[in-house]
Amino acid sequence: QFPPQPGIKAEIGIIGGSGLYDPGIVENPQEVKVYTPYGEPSDYIIVGTVRGRRVAFLPRHGRGHRIPPHRINYRANIWALKSLGVKWIISVSAVGSLREDYRPGDMVVPDQFIDMTKKREYTFFDGPVVAHVSMADPFCEQLRQEIITVGKELGFRIHERGTYICIEGPRFSTRAESRIWKDVFKADIIGMTLVPEVNLACEAQICYATIALVTDYDVWADKPVTAEEVTRVMKENTERARRLLYELIPRLPEAPDPARCSCCRSLETALL
Ligand code: ADE
Repeated sequence: QFPPQPGIKAEIGIIGGSGLYDPGIVENPQEVKVYTPYGEPSDYIIVGTVRGRRVAFLPRHGRGHRIPPHRINYRANIWALKSLGVKWIISVSAVGSLREDYRPGDMVVPDQFIDMTKKREYTFFDGPVVAHVSMADPFCEQLRQEIITVGKELGFRIHERGTYICIEGPRFSTRAESRIWKDVFKADIIGMTLVPEVNLACEAQICYATIALVTDYDVWADKPVTAEEVTRVMKENTERARRLLYELIPRLPEAPDPARCSCCRSLETALL
């Protein structure tokens, strides 16, 4: 299903969110245009080397933030990375906080999500091949642990768990909605781009985890969130995300450990 791109290979994919349009750490970068059966990915993919490892970087919203969350071609993005040979995807995204102790500037490595999106393309299995992948543990536990270890070593405020609620956007939540996400659903962070990126990575049997950068307290905390605030705080924090990636990339094993994650086997129990 994912024919390889001739001659261009990468093992680690990075999907950058608002503010992280250029990883700034890739040596000998090559801009690669990947054609997919689902149309165009968000942008050219920057393929190169980071500390001896082959990396493919894709800005989720396109360079210059051209594509809103509900218009991102998630299937093309994941297909493109898979076709380059990517086994790990580290995604970076801006999120709002739904709890006092997850403060703007903090990092969160979510372990669960709630899907409140409405109209996206959620699957590669549109028939005639049918698959129902398990989403019980949606993130790669091995990759999550590697991110947490490095984040702590660097002295960052990093939270090891969190439930990410993904809303359709592009608008932010109403006060009533925000209180439901926080008090009824007990979600910890909120964003607009995790779903269906995480689902599709799982279907493609790629290990996937997210570094969520908290940019604001969502509107439950009284003050309405603004796009300006999200972008400004994200910009202030991208340098730390880059440092984390720079330390993390050389540490990732060449292949995931089947004892520590099941992502690479997600289809074993999913296909009918
Ligand atoms: N991304 C960053 N902050 C957000 C918020 N408060 N709601 C939804 N998406 C966000």
